[in-house]
Formats: sequence, C-alpha cells, structure tokens
Amino acid sequence: MTHRRRVVRVPASSANLGPGFDAFAAALALHVEVEVVETGRFAVVTDLDVARDRRNLVVRGFEALHPADAFEFRITSTVPLSGGLGSSAAALVAGLTAADSLFELDADLLAHATRLEGHPDNVAAALQGGFVVCAPSGHVARFDAPAGLEAVLVVPYEAVRTSQARAALPAEVPMADAVANVAHAAQLVLGLVQGDLDLVARGLEDHLHQPHRAHLYPRSAELVREARSLGALGATISGAGPTVLVWTHFEHTGGVVEALRRRADGWADVVRAPFETRGADVRAL
Ligand code: HSE
Repeated sequence: MTHRRRVVRVPASSANLGPGFDAFAAALALHVEVEVVETGRFAVVTDLDVARDRRNLVVRGFEALHPADAFEFRITSTVPLSGGLGSSAAALVAGLTAADSLFELDADLLAHATRLEGHPDNVAAALQGGFVVCAPSGHVARFDAPAGLEAVLVVPYEAVRTSQARAALPAEVPMADAVANVAHAAQLVLGLVQGDLDLVARGLEDHLHQPHRAHLYPRSAELVREARSLGALGATISGAGPTVLVWTHFEHTGGVVEALRRRADGWADVVRAPFETRGADVRAL
C-alpha cells in the first residue's frame, strides 16, 4: 500500500514589531517541520515538549480540515518554545497546510488559522513569509525586508504564557498613546518599504502593549530600552514576549551579538535569525 505523505515547513515569526499590536509581523528563518504520513493509525512522534494527543497544535490545525485518525505526525522544530516566536501559529499553519495539500481542498488557510489562533499577525507571517500588515477585516498586505536589515533574538530561559500577557492589557488606552502608535507604525512601514533604517529605528516605539506587559519580563523590557546603546537600531518585544527582537544594520550585527551575549549571560540565549521571505511550504509529496 502506498502511504500518502506530505512534508511541510513553516517559519517562526515575530509579531507586533513595536507599534503594530495584533497587526504587524515578520517571518524569521527558524522553522517547524512536520512529516504527515497516512499509516492507518493516529500518532504524534516528536522529541519536543508538546502534547502527543489531539490537543497537539499541528493536529488541531489538521483536524480543522480533516480527521487525523489515520495519520502519523512527525514533528521537529528549531523555534524556541519560551514565548514570542509564533511557535503555536507555525504549528497550526503546518497542520492546516498539510491537510489542505493532502486533500486538495484549496481552503482559506488564513481565515482558519486566524480563528484557531485568535489574531492574524503570526499566522499571516507563517503562511506568507516576509513582513505582513494585517487589518481586522482579514486583509493582509505583504512585503519583503529591506536590504541591510538583520534580526537578532534574545530568548529568555523562563517562559511567559501568551494568555497571561494578553490578560495584562488594558481594555482602553489614552488617545495620546493611540496617536503615538499610529505615527510610529506609519514611520516603521515607510522606513521598511523605503529601506530607510533611520526611519525604521524611529518607528519601533510602542505605547499600547509593551509598557503594560513590562512587569511580566523586566529584563526583556530593560533590554528593549537599552538596545540602541549596544549598537542596534532598536528592539521590540517579540509578540507577547518574553523574547526580544533586536533590529540591526548588517554592518553592526556582529558587535551587537557580542554585546547581547554579555548582557544575556545567565538568563537568555542570543540567536541570529534572518528575516525569512518564504512562508509555509509543502516540501515533499
Ligand atoms: N499580537 C499578539 C500579542 C502576538 O501581542 O498578544 C502573540 O501571539
């Protein structure tokens, strides 16, 4: 008997990018890879610290489109699980993409993934790669990173749950904070599209979510404040945190990595992760 099989690779992502709460994200070259094989019985095979039953997020993504009873899911990943790098979005997108390809469904994967994840930013970047701007209507505008822009991640050992970080947010914000974020978000996108890294640096400031979550990860918050003094363009809390996305000009990345390694000693890993142009990809049939 020929076993139907798919291998799907999906990138990690950093959401919010400072002022773009629940709207902006960028794909990063760390990946979840899933081999789905029709063996005749359900199984999840992985060394990762994730559920091996129907609660597994790859399986939940798959089962949004088709029952998983006859399929084995072999999951590997280079995406840190401590929080802020879109690992849950990548897993959901991997399951959805595998089912969509196996059963030739041509489903609206962005709509399914957004419903499962609760917000569109990480799933849009995981599906499409590059940088994404997501509107509440569901429309996504995508573009590529400008030349010379690089990313370094500071990944704390201690995890923070996204649900906890979302619970820390206020229901309403002052008009002045909303205005500041509109301005910075526009400057950030203009800077990225025009390749103006000084404008990118100006556009990284946030007033809507980072200040309200800083108490959950004080060392990450302090690093965001200090990043420019270490030679970076700036830094943002990656998604709901605690990971920090440090933005650099390629000529300065080496020195910034050295400074970050000293700064993160004992509480976080420092990982170079290029921005990723490719989104979810079916690599083998
Ligand atoms: N935009 C989301 C947040 C990303 O900041 O809560 C985390 O999944």
